[in-house]
Amino acid sequence: MSPSIFLTGGTGYIGGSVLDALTKAHPEYSLTVLLRNVPPTFKERYPDVRIVEGNFDNTELIASTAADSDIVIHNGNSKHEGSLRAHITGLLRNATAASPRYLIRLGGTSSIADWADPAYYGETNPQVWSDVADLDDLKSLPDTALHRNMEKIIEQAAAEHGDRLKCAIICSCGVYGEGRGPGNTQSGLIPMYWAQIQKKGREGRAFYANSGGNTRSWVHIDDLTQVYLKLVEAAAAGGGNASWGREGYYFTASQEWSQLELAKATGKILKQHNIIDNEEPLKLSIDDIKAMKPGKTTFALYGIYVFACNTRTRSDRARNVLGYVPQSGDLWSYLEGDLMAAVRSEGVQGVH
Ligand SMILES: NC(=O)c1ccc[n+]([C@@H]2O[C@H](COP(=O)([O-])OP(=O)(O)OC[C@H]3O[C@@H](n4cnc5c(N)ncnc54)[C@H](OP(=O)(O)O)[C@@H]3O)[C@@H](O)[C@H]2O)c1
Repeated sequence: MSPSIFLTGGTGYIGGSVLDALTKAHPEYSLTVLLRNVPPTFKERYPDVRIVEGNFDNTELIASTAADSDIVIHNGNSKHEGSLRAHITGLLRNATAASPRYLIRLGGTSSIADWADPAYYGETNPQVWSDVADLDDLKSLPDTALHRNMEKIIEQAAAEHGDRLKCAIICSCGVYGEGRGPGNTQSGLIPMYWAQIQKKGREGRAFYANSGGNTRSWVHIDDLTQVYLKLVEAAAAGGGNASWGREGYYFTASQEWSQLELAKATGKILKQHNIIDNEEPLKLSIDDIKAMKPGKTTFALYGIYVFACNTRTRSDRARNVLGYVPQSGDLWSYLEGDLMAAVRSEGVQGVH
């Protein structure tokens, strides 16, 4: 029987791309989405997808919808504890060992970012995290690690109810490429970079700190979507070869690049488009980076997290158990498109 799937964040960059991929690859799946704003074209584009109108604070609505679902794919704001607990509560209502339910949650590699260690600000940290070899370390990250609160909720649910609730965390690195969903189609990191490049005092120059050796893992949105598809297909097949529960932790990386490499490539593209005058990246102080407040977060060191620290991961588990083979071109094949999309949507604020 085709599974019933409840997906959140369907208007988001990642959740929307997953929604789009699922409807195309598996029109036989029964899909329900939680939407707080329904895009005007949604019903025309996805006539067979059921809409439940609400937001992440509507916990009983989330729980009752999850209770009627075989698989929950929870995207969107990956730090909202109440919605995650509601999904678990709901899934457990009808889950049995003979008929387990599945929860796939979007996390992020900010979980392993070394923002707490100033020795690596703007420098390369040799540690590359594997979701197989380093699993014990991943499961004992300090409570101060980003996402740790959410991961602990999943770990506890898996430990207490693992016979009837199969959980997995897709811990994605930085994503690039145009999204495929009905809402936001831009990833966060490149627009955040462009927004900071334009700020007063930076002369419209791409930037880095120290040696610029701090390194980030990246994945194209279509490759990330493949990880989701394979995991959902495994769940639909009763678990398949996938890892669930404590081992259900998946990095998605296909490549990694340093901040200096990103800064050089960004400067070159912006100059080619006559958006800035000087393509040479600017070396900023750590204090300058610390003062940056990219995105909507309240995390005080978010500037460091985005521009000056390391998030290096290897997608060993997805490759081993899901047969994941990234297919898309690398970041450099898509950076121009992503940057120009950011420029178009945010505008040029006097960078000449
Ligand atoms: N993009 C990346 O490179 C990346 C990598 C790893 C992890 N992440 C994390 O993954 C999460 C999603 O990323 P994204 O790039 O897909 O973000 P996004 O494009 O901003 O999408 C967020 C989605 O969540 C929904 N949402 C947020 N808060 C909600 C609430 N209270 N109630 C109902 N819906 C809510 C949004 O709905 P509306 O359309 O109504 O606003 C939207 O559908 C973020 O937490 C991000 O930090 C992102």
